[in-house]
Amino acid sequence: MTRTANQARPKAPSPVVQLTVHQVVRETADAVTLVLNAPTANTVRYRAGQFLTLRVPSADGPLARCYSLSSSPVADNLPAVTIKRVRDGRASNWICDNVTAGMVLDTLPPAGNFVPRDWDAPFVLLAAGSGITPVMSILRTALVAHRNPITLVYANADRESVIFDRDLAELARRHGDRLTVVHLLETEHGLPDATLIASAIANPAGAHVYICGPGPFMTVARAAASSKGIDEAQIHHEVFVSLESDAFEARPAESAPSADGDQVTATVELDGEEHTIDWPKSTVLLDVLLDKGLDAPYVCREGTCGGCAYTLLSGEVEMLDNQTLDDYDLARGSRLACQSLPRSEHLAIAFDI
Ligand SMILES: Cc1cc2nc3c(=O)[nH]c(=O)nc-3n(C[C@H](O)[C@H](O)[C@H](O)COP(=O)(O)OP(=O)(O)OC[C@H]3O[C@@H](n4cnc5c(N)ncnc54)[C@H](O)[C@@H]3O)c2cc1C
Ligand code: FES
Repeated sequence: MTRTANQARPKAPSPVVQLTVHQVVRETADAVTLVLNAPTANTVRYRAGQFLTLRVPSADGPLARCYSLSSSPVADNLPAVTIKRVRDGRASNWICDNVTAGMVLDTLPPAGNFVPRDWDAPFVLLAAGSGITPVMSILRTALVAHRNPITLVYANADRESVIFDRDLAELARRHGDRLTVVHLLETEHGLPDATLIASAIANPAGAHVYICGPGPFMTVARAAASSKGIDEAQIHHEVFVSLESDAFEARPAESAPSADGDQVTATVELDGEEHTIDWPKSTVLLDVLLDKGLDAPYVCREGTCGGCAYTLLSGEVEMLDNQTLDDYDLARGSRLACQSLPRSEHLAIAFDI
């Protein structure tokens, strides 16, 4: 169905979903898993590697924080997130100290782009600390629903800080024919560098690599994967940062009216409908869509979370910022709606493909 979207509707943030904490699992001294009760199975529909956004109180007012789902959409009945304390961090420490079973949390729907698309390729999963969370979801999904060989290299300060230590040992035991788990502990191996990580990647041929952890780890992990001859386009990463803005607050779209000739046209496929829009050259796509009352997905509006990713089918855009899409995502046409300005006269865009 084609329609021209020109009727302004109020701009609302993504719908807030209230989830009850079913169980709090103390994973380590510094990390907890919150198993969440969704009212219906469809309330939290997610793909392995995606995250939820939680509203957390703090002395500075409510904070919006992204937490990757550590559960698997195919192996677990209930969604779960795993949070590790950050030194002096406001939300992470509040969660670890205060959340109990029965508490109700405000969340935003699952989002994110750290989602494998080729589940036949061998996986090399490189994680450090809390970076295990999306990787655990990917790992368990692959083990249950696919047949590809997997190597997990997991770096931590010491044995006590290994999140999911027992689960990983059990998975390695049960799936010894296709899963290899290598722990790199600073107490035994020193700080992980590219050489050490590379030495743990035994079978790199054709692998897709998924990396998540602190910045310095991601740098050496990427170098390790490259040194094993893995194509840059097959190396994916997830960046963990704190959102600066409150993703729960409705914010007006910053859409400025354009003079004639200062706008282009785009067709936008969204929720199964095709819309034709005028797109002012100085307004980011997300703001244009929200201004027209279209229910485009987003979380941070800062270029960090990937929640507004779409596929550019034709035409060109310039992205003001991009802290989340990698070379592979860009090559397959992924772009961020909250950062995209048009750079051609006609564009075709699709969400959710
Ligand atoms: C897509 C995504 C997925 C994520 N998934 C996970 C996950 O699964 N598990 C997980 O544990 N985390 C995850 N994170 C990270 C998480 O969202 C938070 O960033 C993390 O919990 C820290 O938040 P905080 O409020 O505790 O720390 P903050 O209060 O934001 O502080 C972070 C750091 O900045 C310092 N700081 C704070 N304010 C200032 C200031 N004004 N000046 C200087 N320094 C300051 C603090 O001391 C601290 O070291 C994810 C992030 C993203 C974007
Ligand atoms: S909404 Fe987070 S990157 Fe655009």
